[in-house]
Amino acid sequence: MNELLRRLLFLPRQASTLAPQIDALHYAVILTTFAGSALVGLVAVAYVIRYRHRPATPIPLAPDPAQERATRGVEIAGASLLLLLFVVFWVVGFRQFVKLESPPANALIIQVAAKQWMWTFTYPNGRGSKGVLFVPAGRPVRLSMSSRDVIHSFYVPEFRIKKDVIPGRTTEVWFEAREPGAYSVYCAEYCGEGHSTMRASVVALSDSDYALAIERLPPLELELPGPVYREPALAGTAPRERLSLARMGERVATEKGCMRCHTVDGTPHIGPTWLGMYGSVVPLSNGREMLADAAYLTDSMMDPRALIHRGYLPVMPSYQGLLSVPETGAILEYLRVLSKPAAATVNAVERAPLVAPDSPPIRLPSALTDAGSEEMP
Ligand code: CUA
Repeated sequence: MNELLRRLLFLPRQASTLAPQIDALHYAVILTTFAGSALVGLVAVAYVIRYRHRPATPIPLAPDPAQERATRGVEIAGASLLLLLFVVFWVVGFRQFVKLESPPANALIIQVAAKQWMWTFTYPNGRGSKGVLFVPAGRPVRLSMSSRDVIHSFYVPEFRIKKDVIPGRTTEVWFEAREPGAYSVYCAEYCGEGHSTMRASVVALSDSDYALAIERLPPLELELPGPVYREPALAGTAPRERLSLARMGERVATEKGCMRCHTVDGTPHIGPTWLGMYGSVVPLSNGREMLADAAYLTDSMMDPRALIHRGYLPVMPSYQGLLSVPETGAILEYLRVLSKPAAATVNAVERAPLVAPDSPPIRLPSALTDAGSEEMP
């Protein structure tokens, strides 16, 4: 039934765990509206036949009160049923919306940067890819997205997800690919001349293939001075320096002067400490409270005087234009790692094995032959 309707409605594959639920609501709405319009059409035809003009029967001039009451009853029942139907659609849809907006706590976080006209992705190990997003299949993945220039929109039809990507802000979306495969990403917000070419692929791999794939990617290049972000000058003589994204965030934060006002050991300074900040509930000077998620923390970097942390002076300058999207992403990752339970500190993240000891070679889905495949054997 699901498959039949999916094909009838020309919907793409249901490649994420939420896709079947979203389609189920879509089917319910389509089928009830079809049934409703068919019913109206049939009644209209029946009435045309039944009440057609016949010379022999006179048209009654005064309405029959009993019949009028019956008609009113039918009208009220019909309107209530319709209203109830809309409420049911809305409630089911709202629950799906909440689900789509609430990434599971164990989701893998990947930073996404959009610019005219390409998508770049940065993984927790500090490596980056362009045009191809590698994800492990069967695990929730949470994308933390921002744009370098104009508004774009991250759209994966097969996952039934679409989310705007906005400069100076961080928006998030999550999904779980049901099985390994390659899925298309489109930009769904008109963003200039190259909008239609702004595509990418999501490549879902098994866990070990995923670990191997992101290990082979080149490190993220940040536009900061110093050799720490780049390959050593003499390739082959020194081992490649491996910085996790969190470690890069630490370097960026030091370089950009964040650490002059913020500490990471829990002591308040000119600004609040970063230890335990990410994911905590922050008291604001206006009496309200705010969850310090990626969106809030990005807003705090770009427009720090909009929402002031209670007990601190509004002295932080805006970092709009001073922090690139990858740098913002790296700082967010640093903040996130700083707030994980004690066992998982920055160092623990770096010590974690990136590749399973004897992982088999990557099997790329055959659909993926163009962008990014040059990284693979
Ligand atoms: Cu980016 Cu359209």
